Amino acid sequence: MPEHALPVVAVLATGGTIAGAQADATSAGYKAGSFSVNALLAAVPQLTGIAEIRAEQVANVGSQNMTHDVWRALAERVDALCQDPSVAGIVITHGTDTLEETAYFLSLVIQHDKPVVLVGAMRPATALGAEGPANLYNAVALARHPDARGRGPLVVMNDDVHYAREIQKIASAGLCAFTSPNRGRAGVMHGGMPCFYSLNTTTHTTQSEFSLALLDKAGWPRVDIVYAYANLQADLIDFLAGVAEGIVLAGVGDGNATDLAIDALSQAVADGVAVVRASRTGSGFVARDVELDDASLGFIAARDLNPQKARILLMLGLSLTRDPASLQAIFDRY
Ligand code: SIN
Repeated sequence: MPEHALPVVAVLATGGTIAGAQADATSAGYKAGSFSVNALLAAVPQLTGIAEIRAEQVANVGSQNMTHDVWRALAERVDALCQDPSVAGIVITHGTDTLEETAYFLSLVIQHDKPVVLVGAMRPATALGAEGPANLYNAVALARHPDARGRGPLVVMNDDVHYAREIQKIASAGLCAFTSPNRGRAGVMHGGMPCFYSLNTTTHTTQSEFSLALLDKAGWPRVDIVYAYANLQADLIDFLAGVAEGIVLAGVGDGNATDLAIDALSQAVADGVAVVRASRTGSGFVARDVELDDASLGFIAARDLNPQKARILLMLGLSLTRDPASLQAIFDRY
């Protein structure tokens, strides 16, 4: 890099509320993914003082429509940019609804230690007090910073920095919609500088044994989530056992469900489907063999991974093994 040259940060845009437009600045209704990446960047002229930006539009969708195809395109692009020595870091703009899923997926298939930072906004770009420009500034400032290296993909929202595995959207509206409920946030952004409070404590990125190639070979195993509730019957689980290779139970409490549902899940295991027990509660730990005998039922405990991330880890785990004990070991490591 020539002396005084700014670090290069690639910004990959995928849509979301950060690129959302309303009919007027005070209305609740809006359309996610309305503005291009260049329009988002034009709203933050301060970026020219901290980085040379290379912008790309990978998708422009509300993240409720995020797909495995977009994940593949993102992972391939991030991988290529990580191998480009002229690029210091990568920012991905994303809708907030499934942002945590994309971040976690990338943390398991990107084998580089270059900073990758995902960012979104709760208010559309046209709203009064839109926070997208400040979040985007923080994301670029974080992606160019050496302290962000080697931590796997990070998420920055509302001045907080989160690890991909830990972050969770906990509110449907409002600026304080993200937290890392079990292990706490990674740090904060202050005046455009990161201050990290903790190390990432689980396997990710360069230590991850997963890859797009393995996933392709396994055909991206289908994993679905069953949400538990009072009086849950067996028929939904019986149906899923016929179409899915894995089922994640978003269970009540510590990953539990009605006897009917547990019996159906146990039958699914007998039929060759991998079953992971997670919790619908939003935080806490699902351990083995507490209320249920996982060893004899053939179930896997998600520990403190939420159901939507357990779905991703199970999909990747199934690209390596179908053995419940080996899958449990994966859940213990990641
Ligand atoms: C979306 O996830 O695309 C819509 C919601 C948001 O970005 O806040």
